[in-house]
Amino acid sequence: MALLVTGGAGFIGSNFIIDCIKNFNEKVINLDKLTYAGNLENLSEVKDNSNYQFIEGDILDSSLVNEIFAKYKPSAVVHFAAESHVDRSIDNPNNFLQTNIIGTFNLLESSKIYWDNLAKTEKLKFRFLHISTDEVFGSLSEQDEPFSEDNRFEPNSPYSASKASSDHLARAWNKTYGLPIITTNCSNNYGPYQFPEKFIPLMILNALENKKLPIYGDGNYIRDWIYVKDHCDAIFKILKLGAVGENYNIGGENQKKNIDIVNQICNILDELKPRSDQKSYKNLITFVKDRPGHDRRYAINANKISKELKWKPKETFNTGLQKTISWYLSNETWVKGVQNRGYKDWIKKKYSFDK
Ligand code: NAD
Ligand code: DAU
Repeated sequence: MALLVTGGAGFIGSNFIIDCIKNFNEKVINLDKLTYAGNLENLSEVKDNSNYQFIEGDILDSSLVNEIFAKYKPSAVVHFAAESHVDRSIDNPNNFLQTNIIGTFNLLESSKIYWDNLAKTEKLKFRFLHISTDEVFGSLSEQDEPFSEDNRFEPNSPYSASKASSDHLARAWNKTYGLPIITTNCSNNYGPYQFPEKFIPLMILNALENKKLPIYGDGNYIRDWIYVKDHCDAIFKILKLGAVGENYNIGGENQKKNIDIVNQICNILDELKPRSDQKSYKNLITFVKDRPGHDRRYAINANKISKELKWKPKETFNTGLQKTISWYLSNETWVKGVQNRGYKDWIKKKYSFDK
């Protein structure tokens, strides 16, 4: 039996697949459309492993998805595939609604048909893990309590609205049809293989190229950062031990202001890779126009997963950020490859200066 992973060529999906194959000896089928964010280079260390199978395709293609279920008979679906960047969703929401809402609907429908026809033992074991985000809960003030699983949904961007819609569909397919679904809502991830349109890799790589470090608004926006491998561990634990029909919030216990993160990145780079003129990378920090509808703060209350499944993040922000910066410094070929994949066009379109 295998895991069917969707979006496994993206940032979190590829980290998850590598861990599944190398640490847990699971068989994985990776269905990915290879959008600008999908990159098979992320999976080079497992691509020839007999437990790994890649299929290029769209979750919107129901007949392909049905064929995959019939051929590989997965014991679980881990659904990462999504359009994931908030700024792009503001520019062009259409793909977000298609993939995140209709794509999830297709996958739920195909899973239901497949699951309905399984023998009793396989039926009991089957799981559909829907990977979602804390952004569905909206924005916190600095005084608010962190998001718990019971917070109401208040999505503010086209991205988070599309993810919230998909969470509602997952809930309904569990309540109405009994499909054994578990949903996870995680905070901001960082780590190896993250596409450099996202905050942390963008700042690292811009600094290394002596480009401006663009901070939206006043820079006092707060996110609760989690190292991607900690997120993957949590997903694996939920897959094995999580209760069907439940939601689990996942977070890194690392609430940080954007401006503080950029300063910390600059300090580390000043040590590891000093600029030729000996000036600090901090000279590159530039405050730019704010993101419309920008959520002020995200923070996760992860008590439920911690108590019920005994999961805790292993990395502190300091150790995780050091590892991440070292990874980007020692993977120049990956970086160059990614920067030639539709990344430059997006950056040019978005900024008048060379971000
Ligand atoms: P990503 O953008 O790096 O990767 C998304 C992957 O999905 C890519 O490989 C892409 O090719 C694939 N994909 C997109 N549309 C597809 C389609 N129609 N059919 C098949 N494949 C398709 O995203 P990520 O950061 O790895 O996020 C993965 C999931 O985790 C998403 O569902 C996201 O909402 C969620 N999430 C992300 C974070 C974060 O901080 N990155 C935090 C919480 C939750
Ligand atoms: O919270 C989980 C979410 O985290 C995921 O669901 C999303 O897929 C993921 O993209 C991320 O969303 P954010 O919008 O929080 O991440 P992003 O990296 O785009 O931005 C992080 C913060 O940094 C945010 O406050 C905006 C700010 N920012 C971002 C960019 C790209 C800047 O100040 N400058 C920038 O250039």
